[in-house]
Parts: sequence; C-alpha cells; structure tokens
Amino acid sequence: MTQVTGDTDYGLVGAAYTRIRRTDPRIAALVHAALGDARTIVNVGAGAGSYEPLDRHVLPVEPSPAMRAQRPAHLAPALHGVAEHLPFDDDSVDAAMAMVTVHQWPDAEAGLREMRRVARGPVVVLTFDGDELDRLWLMDYVPELRVAEAARYPAVDTITRTLGPGTRVRPVPVPIDCVDGFTEAYYARPEAFLDPAVRRAQSAWTFLEPGVEERAMATLAADLTSGAWDERYGSLRTRPEFHGAVRLIVSP
Ligand SMILES: C[S@@+](CC[C@H](N)C(=O)[O-])C[C@H]1O[C@@H](n2cnc3c(N)ncnc32)[C@H](O)[C@@H]1O
Repeated sequence: MTQVTGDTDYGLVGAAYTRIRRTDPRIAALVHAALGDARTIVNVGAGAGSYEPLDRHVLPVEPSPAMRAQRPAHLAPALHGVAEHLPFDDDSVDAAMAMVTVHQWPDAEAGLREMRRVARGPVVVLTFDGDELDRLWLMDYVPELRVAEAARYPAVDTITRTLGPGTRVRPVPVPIDCVDGFTEAYYARPEAFLDPAVRRAQSAWTFLEPGVEERAMATLAADLTSGAWDERYGSLRTRPEFHGAVRLIVSP
C-alpha cells in the first residue's frame, strides 16, 4: 500500500525496516547522555521507536501508519502528527529528540522551531552532514546517491542557527558492527548492500533514476568477486569505527 510521509513511502519500505534499522547501543548512549536528566521527552519522527530511552516518559509523534504499526508493544503508541505542528504546549516537556528524520520533513526549519518551542530543556537531533557524505566508499559506486542525499539533508549550519545559541555539533563515530542499518553502518561490510532488503531500509535509494541502483550493485558485486573492492578499501574491514557524516546536534 502507498503511504507517503515526508519524502518516503514507508508502505513500500515495509516490515523489513525494523529488522535492519535497530537502535545501536553505542549511538544510543550518546543520545541518552545528551538528553540529560529529562523525564518527559517528545520523539519526533519516532518511527518504530529506535533510540527511545526506556527509563523515561516518551511521547512519540509519527505521521506514517506503516511505521506506527511497527512499534513494539513495550513502547508507547505514537501520536499521528508531524514535526511542523507538534501537538504540545510551549515548554511542556523536558526534552525533544529527532533521530534520522529531519531530512524527510517538508519544512525542517519549522519542525526544529516546534521542537525548540515545546521543550524546556535539550533538543537532540541525530542527522547526517550532507557535505561529508563522500567519506563513504559507496559514493564512488553510486555518485548519484551522494547527490540525491546531499540535497535532502538540511545544512548543519541551518539546524544550529534554527535551534539557537549554545547549539553544539558532535561527530558520531559509526561502530564496525553498527546495528542501525543506515548506509555508513556497512562501511566494513560491503556485501550487505547486495541484499535488496538492506537497501530498501535506506530511503536514499528511492531517489535514483531507473537503472542506476542495478548498475552500481552489479559493479560492486563484480569488484567483491574479483578482489578489486578489497584492494582499494579492504583496510576498512578491520577498522573499529568510521568517522563519516553522522552528527549529533544538541541545543541546551
Ligand atoms: C528514517 S525514519 C527514522 C525513524 C526513527 N526515528 C528511527 O531512528 O528509526 C524517518 C521517519 O520520519 C518520519 N517523517 C517523515 N516526515 C515527517 C514529518 N514531517 N514530521 C515528523 N516525522 C516525519 C517518517 O515517517 C519516518 O518514520
């Protein structure tokens, strides 16, 4: 069923999302530390609940019925809503979080202003720096993916300016066995991209012209078989973490 929210159809992405895009505990530790001692937290673009702390009161907001339906029973059900119009009063919660979602909002600045409006304390955004996406070797195979992705991510400067004074940007290292399957999570596991389910859980691929994905995956498969990938990038297979484009942006 077609269920477009933001710029992605999560009806098509389907149930594989929660198998492939899970909370990575190392990244979660950074997010939870940034939330400080907040007891009540709005999670905007909450999806199936990744990164929601289990020991606080979380109010999830999520526009996609397909994503809301994938929330596990131990998490609170999500409210139907969008970042640009949060259904909360000014200063009504301790903190607000938005994990890997701002790039899908039709009006990211309006959504960020809403988060700042409703939260008394920290606003915590996990996102990607569109200017740093070419750090990942995958972009050598699919330059079109970098172009498509760079156009989606709000500039880090725009986010910090919108969230206001004191906002800080922290690069987030990606662990070698990262269990949140965004593209950089597989920096050391190139074979993973050959699995269509992995790519379906990464919305970026849906922005490519027909044939581009197939061409890139055929080249990658051939390079993995011939050893060309390992010759060029093989040292990544044992690098414990990758410093790419993931950023944690925190407004106090
Ligand atoms: C990549 S998913 C991330 C979900 C979850 N935060 C996570 O980390 O797994 C992006 C989410 O943003 C949601 N979204 C799209 N447009 C939105 C909007 N305008 N306001 C709030 N959420 C939106 C999508 O429906 C989707 O669930």
